[in-house]
Amino acid sequence: MELLKDKKPISHLFVITGLLLLFSTLIFGTIGAFQYVFPGLYRESFSFEKIRPLHVSSAVFWILITACGSVLHYLIKKRNGLWSNKLAQWQWFLFTIAVVVILITYVLGIFGGREYWEFHPYLAIPIIIAWILFLINVIKTIKDFRKQPVYIWMWLTGTVFFLFTYLESYLWLIPYFRSNIVHDMTIQWKSYGSMVGCWNMLIYGCSIYLMDKISGSEKYSYSGISFALYFLGLFNLMFNWGHHIYTLPAPKYIQYVSYGVSMTELLLLGRIIYYWKSSVNTARKLYHILSYRFLLAADLWIFLTLLLAIAMSIPAINIYTHGTHITVAHTMGATIGINTFLLLAFVCNIFKIHKPKTEKRITAGLYITLVALPIFWISLIIAGVLKSNWQMHLSNEVPFSAMMQSIHPFFVVFLISGIILTIGFFVIIGNLLAAYFMKTQEN
Ligand code: HEM
Repeated sequence: MELLKDKKPISHLFVITGLLLLFSTLIFGTIGAFQYVFPGLYRESFSFEKIRPLHVSSAVFWILITACGSVLHYLIKKRNGLWSNKLAQWQWFLFTIAVVVILITYVLGIFGGREYWEFHPYLAIPIIIAWILFLINVIKTIKDFRKQPVYIWMWLTGTVFFLFTYLESYLWLIPYFRSNIVHDMTIQWKSYGSMVGCWNMLIYGCSIYLMDKISGSEKYSYSGISFALYFLGLFNLMFNWGHHIYTLPAPKYIQYVSYGVSMTELLLLGRIIYYWKSSVNTARKLYHILSYRFLLAADLWIFLTLLLAIAMSIPAINIYTHGTHITVAHTMGATIGINTFLLLAFVCNIFKIHKPKTEKRITAGLYITLVALPIFWISLIIAGVLKSNWQMHLSNEVPFSAMMQSIHPFFVVFLISGIILTIGFFVIIGNLLAAYFMKTQEN
């Protein structure tokens, strides 16, 4: 742990690791998009079966590690330090080792897990231990639970429930749970839905902390609407799984309630950012311009994601979207447009980026992503609509190969816009890291 013994806050290490994972997310995503356009590309060495988990796990860990780093950073600010830096160092160390080994095992073709967590279940052990350390540190650092702002409750709830749902996602290892397919799938999707709800709690909490910091008031962290968002988020992480199991024989009201709650949660967050924007004075906005812009970009994507989610929640449409690129568009739209933009808002704030030249370049990167992302997203939606139409109505008359031929042009658009999106994010990541390391050398 010698590496960690310098004066930099431990949260910086989490954020740098997160940015490197975002980089690998983009590299593997781009290779995956090439494989959409040229099926069978690198089949021998880097087949799509390897590239997909490499991409998706990098994305999930980019979100998780950077969310943890941001929570730790803001806890340090709020509480003048952590209960234990050592614990946070061990957390980072266990996380990083686990992620590196996971990516290596994918490259070697060693799997053993399930969708989204395809790695061997043994590798879940360091992640669970790291999370327990995080949980202890968060609880001990907060110490006093009276009259806390909403973000403290969000961090606490997200941390506690993540551990619970992550353990739950491994219940399939016990024969009793995997012996009944409907129970097994319900538990699996319930845990995945809840896990997303948990990391959203961490991220929304950081967003509210940051919005208060930028506006220079504590208006939002004690406001009724933020607490409404908190309780809705809590309900959501317990029950949003309903909308993941449309195809399973479960009561319909569970699905409608859970979809309704997920959308209301997004609507509230979107509304908070929308109204917060007009409460920030020009001087404060200019001082935090990068974080401000990323927050607004996330706000735009909250509304676009909502539009797609509303459409997908209509049962007659939902049947069409299952197993198509529409679901991928929904997942990537939310993880890029909402999670990634919010996390980048925190990173700009944590790294204290204020040099005009760097600000200009990062803003240029953001604008590139803002142009490319809607094209990327819409191309997936169109490909999904065409595929689902074939699945539901044309599969008896039109061969699969002819259907794939008809959606090929949209895969080409997906690839080109994906490359531009990647370039935009590279500009952002490169400038963030360069500015950070230059500052470190100057100090
Ligand atoms: C911040 C950047 C990104 C994040 C967080 C992200 C996240 C994700 C997630 C969570 C999935 C799983 C979707 C699902 O199973 O429903 C996914 C799939 C995928 N992503 Fe990304 N992605 C990012 C950028 C990209 C880029 C730039 C490209 C292409 C240039 C790309 C290409 C793909 C491909 C090909 C898949 C597989 C879809 C399939 O299984 O058919 N991603 N991504």
